[in-house]
Amino acid sequence: RPRVLSGIQPTADSFHVGNYLGALRQWVDLQATHETFYSIVDLHAITVEHEPKLLRQRTRVAAAQLLALGIDPERSTLFVQSQVPAHTQLSWVMECLTGFGEAGRMTQFKDKSGKGGADHTSVGLFTYPILQAADILAYQADAVPVGEDQRQHLELTRNLAQRFNSRFGKTLRVPEPYILKATAKIYDLSEPRAKMSKSSPGGSLDLLADVKASVKKIKSAVTDTEREIRYDEENKPGVSNLLSLLSVFTGTSIPDLEVSYQGKGYGDLKGDLAQVWAEFVTPLQAAVAGYLADPAELDRILSAGAARATAVASKTVADVYQKVGFLTV
Ligand code: TYM
Repeated sequence: RPRVLSGIQPTADSFHVGNYLGALRQWVDLQATHETFYSIVDLHAITVEHEPKLLRQRTRVAAAQLLALGIDPERSTLFVQSQVPAHTQLSWVMECLTGFGEAGRMTQFKDKSGKGGADHTSVGLFTYPILQAADILAYQADAVPVGEDQRQHLELTRNLAQRFNSRFGKTLRVPEPYILKATAKIYDLSEPRAKMSKSSPGGSLDLLADVKASVKKIKSAVTDTEREIRYDEENKPGVSNLLSLLSVFTGTSIPDLEVSYQGKGYGDLKGDLAQVWAEFVTPLQAAVAGYLADPAELDRILSAGAARATAVASKTVADVYQKVGFLTV
């Protein structure tokens, strides 16, 4: 079976619908055909200022959400990144292969480091994409299911794997991004030309948010001053985003939705989306609460995952360390 690795940061109280449609839905589906490794990337979460207690809580909430969404810890290796030393061990070698300018061209770093000036931007935020490359390469992953915003980091990962292989001999598998076009970029409800993100909660649709509040958010989503329900990303980004969401949750194609909304208004579209959303998250929230009621069991699942992950990733580290000329222990 081909291998998959992906990761998600425990940096918010809830995942949002962009995380789900851009990545997590594919995580669940790929379990049927691939050997899957899924990581809650807490090392990445400390690249910006954080609260330790909150990080610990959010790591468990992240695990509970993944399990509730259908990540099966028997079929997938579900683990917390900091519990597997191979990630940081491999990351150092990858840092030494990365050009300073090359790292400086990462657009996510440029976006995130803008605020607060140079002394508020950690070196960890700068090397973040290199740690991400190590996450992927440590498992010799063939495919990496992510949203569009991760494409550049995957390109760096591929370049680093190829660079390592050409300098030290074939060692690392060169991974392919797995990005589904229809859901690669979900937009903010209140600012539909911007990507939905954990850092602008005003326009994000969160899996664990109060259902009534989410219904309200959907109903006040920004659209446009026309009346026609038509998919047109350029001129009607808000309506197009709502159509995309409704299309995936109902399994109806966008052209079919356009036909069925002829003569109807934005209120109808929003009402229908609100309803499918409520139907989706209500049982999900109950399942998450169930997992969170037994944190010891959650921690046990994650420890078992870390042991399995370590067994695989430490082999790559041993191979890489030998190839670069370190003495073997
Ligand atoms: P993170 O935690 O920001 O997001 C998790 C996943 O959600 C996707 N995503 C979106 N997809 C569509 N529309 C959106 N609006 C949207 N917002 C987020 C992201 O593309 C991602 O797939 N750097 C990664 C975490 C990471 C990782 C890895 C991923 C660390 N190591 C190794 C893959 C492999 C990140 O910040 O994801």
